[in-house]
Amino acid sequence: MKNRHLNLWPTCLAIAAATSGTLCGQSVTTGADGHSWTLTTRSFSYQLQVTADSLLQMNHFGRNEPGRPYTWPLGEEITVRGGYSSRTPVLEAVFDGRVRDTELAYDSHRITDNNGYQTLSVTLKDKHYPLSVTEHIRVLPEYDLLEKWTEIRHTGRKGQPIEIENAQSGTFFLPKNRYGLSHLSGIWGAEMQPQHTLLTQGTKTLQVKDFRSFGSSFFAIRPEGEQNETAGEVWYGTLQYSGNWRTDFEKYPTGEVQVTAGINFWDQSVFLKPGDSLITPKWVIGYTREGTGGASHNLSAYTREQVLHASHRHKIRPVLYNSWYATAFNVSEEQQLALAKTAKEIGVEVFVIDDGWFKGRVNDQAGLGDWEVDRNKFPDGLKPLIEKINAMGMDFGLWVEPEMVNPNSDLYRAHPDWVFYYPHRTRHTGRNQLMLNLAREDVYEYLHSRLSALLRDNNIRYIKWDMNKALSDPGFPSASVEEERAVRIRYIENLYRLWETLRQEFPDVWFENCASGGGRIDLGMMARADFCWLSDNTDPVERTFIQYAYLSAFPANAMICWVTQEDWHQQHHTLDFKFDVSMCGVLGIGYDITRWSAQEKELARRKIALYKEIRPTVQTGDHYRLVSPYDNNRSVLQFVSKDKRETVVFVYNLAEYPNNALPETQRPQTVRLRGLAPDARYRVEGTEQILTGSALMEYGMDFPVKGAFKSGIFRLRQAD
Ligand code: GLA
Repeated sequence: MKNRHLNLWPTCLAIAAATSGTLCGQSVTTGADGHSWTLTTRSFSYQLQVTADSLLQMNHFGRNEPGRPYTWPLGEEITVRGGYSSRTPVLEAVFDGRVRDTELAYDSHRITDNNGYQTLSVTLKDKHYPLSVTEHIRVLPEYDLLEKWTEIRHTGRKGQPIEIENAQSGTFFLPKNRYGLSHLSGIWGAEMQPQHTLLTQGTKTLQVKDFRSFGSSFFAIRPEGEQNETAGEVWYGTLQYSGNWRTDFEKYPTGEVQVTAGINFWDQSVFLKPGDSLITPKWVIGYTREGTGGASHNLSAYTREQVLHASHRHKIRPVLYNSWYATAFNVSEEQQLALAKTAKEIGVEVFVIDDGWFKGRVNDQAGLGDWEVDRNKFPDGLKPLIEKINAMGMDFGLWVEPEMVNPNSDLYRAHPDWVFYYPHRTRHTGRNQLMLNLAREDVYEYLHSRLSALLRDNNIRYIKWDMNKALSDPGFPSASVEEERAVRIRYIENLYRLWETLRQEFPDVWFENCASGGGRIDLGMMARADFCWLSDNTDPVERTFIQYAYLSAFPANAMICWVTQEDWHQQHHTLDFKFDVSMCGVLGIGYDITRWSAQEKELARRKIALYKEIRPTVQTGDHYRLVSPYDNNRSVLQFVSKDKRETVVFVYNLAEYPNNALPETQRPQTVRLRGLAPDARYRVEGTEQILTGSALMEYGMDFPVKGAFKSGIFRLRQAD
């Protein structure tokens, strides 16, 4: 491992350091002393200062009050293990194999233009050992966000390695107060469940230890008791990382709160040899006075416009069909073509075959790893099928699960040491599969060559990339002990590299991110993917909740929603209701559509046609969560096009029973819209009703849908 540089953020966002040249706006200003900086966004400022004893302190993170000097130090910007160790450390290092204290002092700083956004980089150096720590803070004023990451470098030319036992992406402090924390937890089938808790003295840790999170590293902190969606202070953020991560919220006896986030270094460390460096993933943090809705708006706009993979970021997402719920593993050319024919009739644009198309895959006990077409199912390969689907006017897509292998596969029989394992220990399977050790270069090379051959040899325009097992037994016996300790970090590094390489080689292919549903939804994957499969739970009522919660941090154009025959609670919901629930994201169909009646096909055709009309607003507009299903028996979402000429409102009524539902009089009676041009006149489509933006926002519309499990999609467009 010579001069390894761990770099955990996408190359497409790589720093374009231009120390000279024109800097965009003045979002980073330097104080008269030359050693203090104010980072300014639309609504907050973040202030840092080098103290007389060369420490880097943060003085303020909150409301932007120009002219007000923030002289009260909240805490150190880069907390270290050392001295009294009274703070959650950003950095824990071991020098000479035994000195576990770090002492940092300010060394230098620079302000650069990083793809159009100013970035402050401050370098601190250890007072004795050859270690430098550079903190980068990129300011994104219009999103009210900062990106923070750290770069840790062994600056020596020779000598002992430095062991990094912990390197977080960043930290910040909040002044004394009582704060509530909201975050998203979850399990399979119930992703993104909102949780709320008071931060009391001690540390609350959110973390992932096995590469899978059905929740998110998204957090929102508010002064205790504040719950308003549209007003009030919120500090919020999320990590751009898909491996093990953690966020610590430490509330001190004195009342301050410190928030720290980054890679979860539990059971791992990185050895830096002379010249090596480690760059942490980005942590995105922000502040708004516009409530949780403000946080949702800022983070989702940022992800949509700055994070999603650049090649497809601005493309309208297609309507897709996926055969999993119709045919499971039992796929054949004839039956897929029958599905494709109906898919085409109703307006589908991409036809995707899910699991089951490859050699040995008759159930979930075999086949993962080989990635060759099953000649029993497709005697002439995939080409004739793809050609026929293309001739119908649809693109073709395929499911893969590259990171896994079934013990019953040619790959595993040939390379039993390519999985994670410890000698003399159980190799724990999950869904009959093991995880390949992608930290190995030969595994990387194998996956790259198999996947690129698949994409080169077949006209595939869509890949659904799945990941169905949690990490276990993370041993790498043929590596050195030092390398083995960093194996989880290397895995994610190579995973990102694999996605980035394939995307570069096959720029026309859409990539979907799936992990047993929403097991890996984060900005690290979003930076490489175009969208994600949010949940295997396609029950429309439960989806209403999961989708609403997802939209608290992420954009609708990255959220795939299918209409399927799944009926988790035997409620027999109507096709109409299911379509409406799935149309507030990226619409997909998963039914066995060959069984549909003429009326069902006609309804699907009309819904898909409507979706194609409204999707520019749904996919590229801003969203507002108007009525929460968590507080009501109703849910209302609104999307507003960027030019404010169109708004689309999705209204869902849920259960209405005396024992579990609010009586009619206590349900929302009006829907007040948001984000419109106040003076513009909007026509409610299908009616003669014209209302001004301000009337719609101040008084609203009468609640437009009656009855349990009924829904409606309302389009309003500027009349002039
Ligand atoms: C996972 C995915 C599903 C489907 C199956 C196929 O469970 O979440 O959508 O692709 O795998 O085996």
